[in-house]
Amino acid sequence: MRQRILSWYRKHKRDLPWRRTRDPYAIWVSEIMLQQTRVETVLPFYERFLHRFPGVRSLARAREARESQVLAAWSGLGYYRRARNLHAAARALVRRHAGRLPEDRASLLELPGIGEYTASAIASIAFGRAAAAVDGNVIRVLARIGGHSGRRDSPALRGAVTAMAESLAQGPHPGDWTQALMELGATLCLPREPLCVRCPASRFCVARLRGSPERFPEAQPAVAPREERRVVLVATSGRRVLLVPDDADERATWTLPYARLGASTASKAARGLLSRLVGNAGPDPDRAGSFRHRTFSHSLTYEIWSVELRGHPASNRPAPPDPKRPQRPGSLWATSHELERLPVRSHTLKALRSLDR
Ligand code: ADE
Repeated sequence: MRQRILSWYRKHKRDLPWRRTRDPYAIWVSEIMLQQTRVETVLPFYERFLHRFPGVRSLARAREARESQVLAAWSGLGYYRRARNLHAAARALVRRHAGRLPEDRASLLELPGIGEYTASAIASIAFGRAAAAVDGNVIRVLARIGGHSGRRDSPALRGAVTAMAESLAQGPHPGDWTQALMELGATLCLPREPLCVRCPASRFCVARLRGSPERFPEAQPAVAPREERRVVLVATSGRRVLLVPDDADERATWTLPYARLGASTASKAARGLLSRLVGNAGPDPDRAGSFRHRTFSHSLTYEIWSVELRGHPASNRPAPPDPKRPQRPGSLWATSHELERLPVRSHTLKALRSLDR
């Protein structure tokens, strides 16, 4: 079965940029970007990031004052903690490993941002070590092949699948094997309608032999997204717009000022935001539209309120939010040119786009 899956992988694998390289740094970057993010989303960011930071040392050299450049190169990918960790890990590599990635799982695991799954993926793909990378996709593939029942989050299922994965990881071509399992999960062994007729493992697959592969693993109970209403403030001064570091994102990104709408009215909340940031003088914000935004856990409705503060001394210079000084007020009047270079949250882009700036 292992052999068949490997042959299928070699023939049908998608041509992805991190599969054209043997550079451990480039493979590491790909695995970090692919955490929680789909392949299609990662593709444009990946090449751009490697172009900007082609190796461990160039990434490590982006020191504190320039960490914003690392975050900016990451801008749009989300989960900025990953970019922070990548940067911190690059510096640790220079300090402790002569600027190279270590080859074994245990040393990889000591680096920020590298957990069990990613350590195994890097050890096998970049260094040909036998290591089992088990994520949600691999759990699905192996639960089906092995006919292991249970919910995806159940320790019993994870245990059964991990044992299977570790045994299968032993053998020739560990890196291809790791990626072959990922590829099966991404392209054929799909959650709802698996394409078993094309699957190299179908004749071995217990779930298929039982006639119901899509029932493995058992569904998690659905959690309804939480509804929340927010106001978002677009305060402009000439060609500049007011941004603040986002507390919800560890101040790693910039956002238009926003607030949750509780009991108070939207106009009051918008005025409150404005007065906290630039004082009470001047005009009140007006309602300028609304948009909806879905996240993993929330269904958000944003009301946009805008205000033009003519003649406001919009002069502070862009500086990265400093994680060591979270009390810093640190608002920033950004031009559209600066906006393009700053890491900003997608709700900010949505709000600005909907105002057609
Ligand atoms: N997801 C995580 N790692 C991956 C890889 N190397 N190729 C495709 N998808 C992945």
